[in-house]
Amino acid sequence: MPPSSDVCAVLTAAGSGSRLGCELPKALVSLSGRPLLWWAARGLRAGGVGTIVVTAPASCIAEFRAAIDGLGDVLVVAGSDRSRQASVALGLAALGDRGADTVVLVHDAARPLTPPQVTARVIDAVRAGAGAVIPVLPVSDTLKTVDASGLVTGTPRRADLAAVQTPQGFRWDVLMRAHEAGASLGADEAVAATDDAGLVEAIGVAVHTVAGDERSLKVTRPLDLALARLLAGQEQAD
Ligand code: C5P
Repeated sequence: MPPSSDVCAVLTAAGSGSRLGCELPKALVSLSGRPLLWWAARGLRAGGVGTIVVTAPASCIAEFRAAIDGLGDVLVVAGSDRSRQASVALGLAALGDRGADTVVLVHDAARPLTPPQVTARVIDAVRAGAGAVIPVLPVSDTLKTVDASGLVTGTPRRADLAAVQTPQGFRWDVLMRAHEAGASLGADEAVAATDDAGLVEAIGVAVHTVAGDERSLKVTRPLDLALARLLAGQEQAD
């Protein structure tokens, strides 16, 4: 898919990587000789994204710029150490004013191996008229709700659940409205918004789904990184 000027993305990478147990910010951790960030940005571009804004830890802007060197239209700005939502808001501000019909994606650098076909599916669904689109996979574990004391409070039907990935895609005006509304939420509710689609749901706009992909795994813990390294090695060998 050639990059398109009416498709832009915020690539969130301002997290610390503490759960991965590494010194470096997670997005700079190496996967087959390139940082996670590079893989994620390259994947978005191959899926048809034009301008990409990366949100980086404020102390590492230069390292992040070096990490995406050679990928073209990629801007690095400081994210927030407060929350992912706040980092995305800063990334959107750096994209400036865009037309309502612009397609804007939000993707986590923690998902370096998202196939370009997933990104293209999300873009196509927004272009076809959806205000918000997320890639999903069926859930294989049974999930429970558990209270603060560790007691199980319920078992949602597994068939009603889906595991949500990124990139999530939006009409520009929808995501802007959702973030404006999200910024005025109380602290407790704001913490609950671990993805952008959650903010869109909160303003009453329908969120559509497309098929995600197992290779789009989120690198959070050491075992995820081991699996991502195996997959990246295979991809380079192909
Ligand atoms: O913490 P979590 O795993 O949900 O982070 C998902 C993505 O959000 C990661 O790519 C991380 O770098 C990014 N993030 C961010 N700003 C924060 C926290 C997380 O950009 N304050």
